Amino acid sequence: MIAPIEGFSKLTKEEKIDWIVTNYTQHPESAKTLLKRYWNTDTDIQKLHDEFIENTITNYFLPFGIAPNFLINDKLYAIPMAIEESSVVAAASKAAKFWSDRGGFKTTVLGTEKIGQVHFIFEGDSEKLNSFFERVKPKLFIEISAITKNMKKRGGGISAIELRDKSEQLPNYYQLHCTFETLDAMGANFINSCLEQLATTLKREAQNHTEFTTDEKDIEVVMSILSNYVPNCLVRAEVGCQVSELSDDPKKATAFANKMVQAVTIAKVEPHRAVTHNKGIMNGVDAVILATGNDFRAVEAGVHAYAARNGSYTSLTDATIENGIFKFWIELPLALGTVGGLTSLHPLVKLALEILQKPSAEELMQIVAVAGLAQNFAALRSLVTTGIQQGHMKMHLLNILNQLGASNVEKNTLTNYFKNNAATHSAVVEAFENLRKQ
Ligand code: MEV
Repeated sequence: MIAPIEGFSKLTKEEKIDWIVTNYTQHPESAKTLLKRYWNTDTDIQKLHDEFIENTITNYFLPFGIAPNFLINDKLYAIPMAIEESSVVAAASKAAKFWSDRGGFKTTVLGTEKIGQVHFIFEGDSEKLNSFFERVKPKLFIEISAITKNMKKRGGGISAIELRDKSEQLPNYYQLHCTFETLDAMGANFINSCLEQLATTLKREAQNHTEFTTDEKDIEVVMSILSNYVPNCLVRAEVGCQVSELSDDPKKATAFANKMVQAVTIAKVEPHRAVTHNKGIMNGVDAVILATGNDFRAVEAGVHAYAARNGSYTSLTDATIENGIFKFWIELPLALGTVGGLTSLHPLVKLALEILQKPSAEELMQIVAVAGLAQNFAALRSLVTTGIQQGHMKMHLLNILNQLGASNVEKNTLTNYFKNNAATHSAVVEAFENLRKQ
């Protein structure tokens, strides 16, 4: 059995690598070589990446691709996407092209409110807590003013502090539920710093509040943290056109529009389908979130909570046909930043933002929502027409051929062959073996 290690984080990078490859790999030398092959030859770039996290031993690459031709509110974007899944960028590009010929995407930011909470336990009379809160509220605002000063100057800051009684859900549980405007910053550090100051003020003022009993004075702050559930930091993206514009063949156009609406309706009423439907949306969303240095875990958590906001998990997109018009739209809660964090540190993130014409956080929300909508449109379009495997396997063909060690000539031959043949995994292997036998 491998013994636990003390002080791993204090080892040098070389020592960490030696320890891990010796103790956990079958071929330490080749593992070490592999790890080093992924180092950047530019030592400054490598150092930057080393310092993003603790215990870095190498880099983990994801493809960084571009989906061009996104017409959003009459402005043309090329969207950077960081993702490993074959066919996502191709699908986004196809949907972008399709809709750019039909008026493009229209987007609206419906809200930009962020949320943070101080969770605390108060054992006593809730009426007394209410009047204490009203009295202490101005002080709460004053004592965070040093933190909020700069944000306020730019038009942001803390917009409200509410006392919320949660004692029906959990005995003696209350919150300071706070709303923030963080402009172009995602705002996590800003919000958390404000909350921790609010918690300190709350505790201290409770101790000094003469109308409280000894127990009541002893407010126990459990934690102070932003919420990644941001239903009022919301963006809407939509596309629409005459049903007849969906295909050159009028019969096909109507059938396609109906099937698209049916597919969305199924995802609205059936959670198993809704999860996969929304997963496809997140293919687009996460890829842009990653490329622009935002926190995809936060977005994922918030988006899925939003999809379940009415008590059952449902589709994030919607579609209708009314008076001969097909409409397809999405609403997504997205707390994003285009300043701070990785956005000013990671060279590729900076480039991604430059490619997007240096968007504000609100503009980035709109671009991300469009990427999600486009992805869903492309997935449903395949699903209700050809089936998903045709497109998927075409893109996956190259992965299979690479796995098989095909040469460039073999790849060309087999790519041509599979233009007219179903590219299942076994068919590709068989065709490859046959080619080698020739
Ligand atoms: C695959 O990554 C995404 C899809 O499954 C989405 C969908 O089914 O809507 C194709």
